[in-house]
Amino acid sequence: MSRSSLIAPHGGSLVNRFVPESDTPSMRAKAEGLPAITLSAKQACDLEMIAIGAFSPLTGFVNKADFEGICNHMRLADGTIWPIPITLAVDDEVKSSLVEGSQAALYHSDGTLMAIMDVDEVFAHDKQLEIPSVFRTEDDAHPGVAAVREEGDWLVGGPIHVLSVVPDHEPGEQFTEYRLPPAETRAAFEEKGWRTIAAFQTRNPIHRAHEYLCKCATEICDGLLIHPLVGETKPGDIPADVRMDCYTTIIEHYFVPERTILSVMPAAMRYAGPREAVLHAVVRRNYGVSHFIVGRDHAGVGDYYGTYDAQNIFDEFDPSDIGIIPLKFEHAAYSKKAQGMVSAKTFPKLENDQIFLSGTKVREMLSKGERPPGEFSRPEVADVLIKWATSEVTA
Ligand code: ADX
Repeated sequence: MSRSSLIAPHGGSLVNRFVPESDTPSMRAKAEGLPAITLSAKQACDLEMIAIGAFSPLTGFVNKADFEGICNHMRLADGTIWPIPITLAVDDEVKSSLVEGSQAALYHSDGTLMAIMDVDEVFAHDKQLEIPSVFRTEDDAHPGVAAVREEGDWLVGGPIHVLSVVPDHEPGEQFTEYRLPPAETRAAFEEKGWRTIAAFQTRNPIHRAHEYLCKCATEICDGLLIHPLVGETKPGDIPADVRMDCYTTIIEHYFVPERTILSVMPAAMRYAGPREAVLHAVVRRNYGVSHFIVGRDHAGVGDYYGTYDAQNIFDEFDPSDIGIIPLKFEHAAYSKKAQGMVSAKTFPKLENDQIFLSGTKVREMLSKGERPPGEFSRPEVADVLIKWATSEVTA
């Protein structure tokens, strides 16, 4: 199968912002004389997403024209669809050390030098514009809103030249074996001879409804990419390593390995619902994916978004512009009468028929060592979660 058979990257070509190994000693020396910016966890995730080409066509943190185009129209200044600004916010003190037209050194919070950035532009962080347009709310209780509110009042725009994305002491925690950049997922799809691939974005342990979505999507595609987000999430979300154990376990027992690839996406969650669904989709396009699963309240939190807002937003774009095909799924659950997974599209709603458990109820059961019903969670997955939940209680 020829290389061109996979979907083209968003914006045309795949970005790679890593500098050649041979340049790193001179860059390290140069960094010592540059103003320093220590990245937040979210910014470090964004840096990696840019470096590996997952955020193609972005080559760095957004400048003012792109920031405004994204907030106002979900487009970069050149018209390319882009729903959430990827910003580098800094405080007054850092801002005063920067010189437009010069460079800055970007560090992980542990002191690791990650990149050198061309400081093209330093501009006021217009949170009044960003927050309501991206999150459709200004409520500080929204975790994405709160994160932007806490950020610095200045934004630095410009391309990055990357030396490292994962600090040396962290590789074990970083799912190295599963951390495939877009060029490598593309190569894996080519090797398998897949042309159509469905991606499943998730930030939760995999339950029966997730599995159902994945399987329906696999029926109409050549293969499936289970693509959990493992970058920064809000407190209370289940840790990525525990979720990874759930995914490997369910694949082993309930998926066809030849048709399934598990890989991680190192992005931070914004909980921006509809706009984040579009971001998740265009990013998966960069990974070589043709179809993207969007279920109920995708990337939502609390009750800020309507159940299907994250699906409806795709109707605002010309399908050929966005390229990747959203696979829209109704709320799915197990029906006792139908003896299988159903949605309002496939089975009538009957009283007391569908198995529904709240997140709180599930946590409660797990921490008591009880498996949720098999209609909600596969027992093997439940056992992974029980192990975590009970050790968390006793820790
Ligand atoms: S998300 O933040 O990544 O969207 P989660 O991991 O819970 O959260 O969801 C992964 C995907 O499954 C999303 O597309 C979401 O809309 C979808 N989804 C989750 N639960 C259901 C369900 N019961 N029915 C239909 N879609 C669902």
